[in-house]
Amino acid sequence: MSSKPIHSVPTKDLYARWAAVYDTDGNILQSIDDHLLPTLLDLAFTILPSHQPITITELGAGTGRNTIKLLHRRQGVEVEKINALDLSPEMLALAKTRCTTFKSPTQVEFYEFDALQPSKSPEVQALEGAADLVLSTLVLEHLPLSIFFSTIRTLLKPNGILVMSNMHADMGRLSRAGFMDGENGGGEVKVQGDSFVYEVSEVVGVGREEGFVVVGPLGVVERGVEEGDLDEGVVGSRGRKWVGRKVWFGCVMRLGG
Ligand SMILES: C[S@@+](CC[C@H](N)C(=O)[O-])C[C@H]1O[C@@H](n2cnc3c(N)ncnc32)[C@H](O)[C@@H]1O
Repeated sequence: MSSKPIHSVPTKDLYARWAAVYDTDGNILQSIDDHLLPTLLDLAFTILPSHQPITITELGAGTGRNTIKLLHRRQGVEVEKINALDLSPEMLALAKTRCTTFKSPTQVEFYEFDALQPSKSPEVQALEGAADLVLSTLVLEHLPLSIFFSTIRTLLKPNGILVMSNMHADMGRLSRAGFMDGENGGGEVKVQGDSFVYEVSEVVGVGREEGFVVVGPLGVVERGVEEGDLDEGVVGSRGRKWVGRKVWFGCVMRLGG
C-alpha cells in the first residue's frame, strides 16, 4: 500500500532503528491496541486469582507502552512482579526509562530475550513456569505460531492466562510492522522486518494444539478502523487509508482450558 521504497532488514535491526520514534510516529496499530487492550486486561484480571499477588511476564514488551498500563492498575489483583522480555535492547532501554520513572510497588525486571533462540538467555530460563499472566501485544507477527505459543506455555504457570493482540491478516496481506525512516540520507524509505500473516482461525487452531483455549464472553475481538475513529482521535490521519478494513485482533486465552 506504500509507494515508498522498502528496506527489509532483520527484525532486531528494524527495532533498533524504529525505537527512537516508535511511540510517536502515529502507527495506527498501537493506537487501536491502546483503545482495546484495557478491555482484554479487565477480563483477564477478573479471571486471575485475587487472593494472592501475581507475576506477569511480557513477551515483546517493546518500549513498555503496555507495561506501564499494568503499573497503573490499582484495583483488584496485586501485581507483585513484571518480567519484561524483548529482542531489542533499544526498545527495552525505553521501557526501562518509562517504568522506572513511575513510582509503583510492583518490581519490574527487564531481559533481552530472543524467542527464536531462548537458550541464549539462561537468565530467562529461571522465569519458566513463574507467570500467572503473559501479555504479548503486536509481537506474534514476528514469530512462527508454534514458537509463540510454546514460548508462552513455558513462561506460564499451569492454567495461566495469556492476553494477546496482533495485526489482523486483512492488514497483514497489505502491510507489515515497519516505519518510515527519513534518516537514511536518500529520502524516506519504509523499513520492515520479518513478518508472518496469520488468520484468526489459524491462531486459535494452533493455540488449541499448544494447549490454549479462548476464554471469556468477548471471544476473539477483531477490529477495523472506523470513520468515527478518525473523528474521535482513536487513530490519527494515517488511519484514513485503513477505514473499513480489519487491522487488529486480540483475545484472552487460558493454558489448559
Ligand atoms: C510491534 S512491537 C510491539 C511492542 C509492544 N508489545 C507494543 O505493543 O507496543 C514488536 C516487539 O516484538 C519484539 N520481538 C520481535 N521478535 C522477537 C523475538 N524473536 N523475541 C522477542 N521479542 C521479539 C520486538 O523487539 C518489538 O519490541
